[in-house]
Amino acid sequence: MKIKTICVVGAGLMGHQIALQAAISGFESFCTDTSEAALQKAQDFALDWIKKNQEKGKIDENEADAIKKRLTFTSDLESAACGADLVIEAIVEILAVKRELFARLDKICPPHTILATNSSYLVSSKIADATSRPDKVLNMHFFNPALIMKLVEVVQGPHVSDQTVETVMEVSRALGKVPTRVNKEIYGFVANRVFSAITQEACYMLDQGVASVEDIDNAVRFGLGHPMGPFALLDLVGIDLEYDVRMARYQETGLAQDKPSPALVARFAADNFGRKSGKGFYDYKK
Ligand SMILES: NC(=O)c1ccc[n+]([C@@H]2O[C@H](COP(=O)([O-])OP(=O)(O)OC[C@H]3O[C@@H](n4cnc5c(N)ncnc54)[C@H](O)[C@@H]3O)[C@@H](O)[C@H]2O)c1
Repeated sequence: MKIKTICVVGAGLMGHQIALQAAISGFESFCTDTSEAALQKAQDFALDWIKKNQEKGKIDENEADAIKKRLTFTSDLESAACGADLVIEAIVEILAVKRELFARLDKICPPHTILATNSSYLVSSKIADATSRPDKVLNMHFFNPALIMKLVEVVQGPHVSDQTVETVMEVSRALGKVPTRVNKEIYGFVANRVFSAITQEACYMLDQGVASVEDIDNAVRFGLGHPMGPFALLDLVGIDLEYDVRMARYQETGLAQDKPSPALVARFAADNFGRKSGKGFYDYKK
């Protein structure tokens, strides 16, 4: 199936950049949100991106106009989604809200439309049965910032058809991304699982007094060739986000290995969330 029109629902941190990326890559792109303020912010960001890239000579006037023409912002879900071949949902991480949205999208969209969720942790099999087309409902997981990060994880739950996966892999490539096919639904998918294992081990070593924050980061950077150490990366992602994700997982599994480490808990409790609060594993006020 050829995808021509993409609708992104949710114009927040992830959605505004996914919608812009779609327009840049030549798709007809609709960006919708229940919040007018979020839509305005997304539109301002897109216009600013186009202006800056035109000034830098990366796109010419014709391309700038074409991107603007291909990108529509609206709070009307029905008009945004009714002509879409692919819908990418990027709204709040609450299962009941996502299920309600997918049930609505199922009624609004034509039968061929693929309904994807950008969720990092909710697998599509928890959502698919809210629609009459489970074979066309899957996780299409972008990374932040979506304009820059190349990875898209395309996850094939047991209900998803091969054709849907192949179409979404192809769209991801057309969006300039490198898609990874994930053959099974697994908590955290691939990249976040690896990241989680690294950060948990790094925190364990810090708690045990094995090495300092700086030395563990240096070992990972200069020994393993990672561009950033795990603590610098946690400060960037947000210690509050990491704590919430770990705590939710721990409450679900009850396994000691999923429990947030003392190093993480102490910083979370002191409101030291990382770069955003000026202090985390490192002090950014200095
Ligand atoms: N933040 C990240 O780094 C990241 C990375 C990958 C995936 N994700 C996933 O992407 C999704 C969105 O995350 P985010 O960080 O962009 O969130 P966000 O809070 O920045 O944005 C969510 C947006 O959805 C809107 N919204 C809420 N309910 C809505 C509804 N029913 N209909 C339309 N719009 C609605 C909100 O107004 C808000 O603008 C989540 O599922 C998250 O797991 C996030």
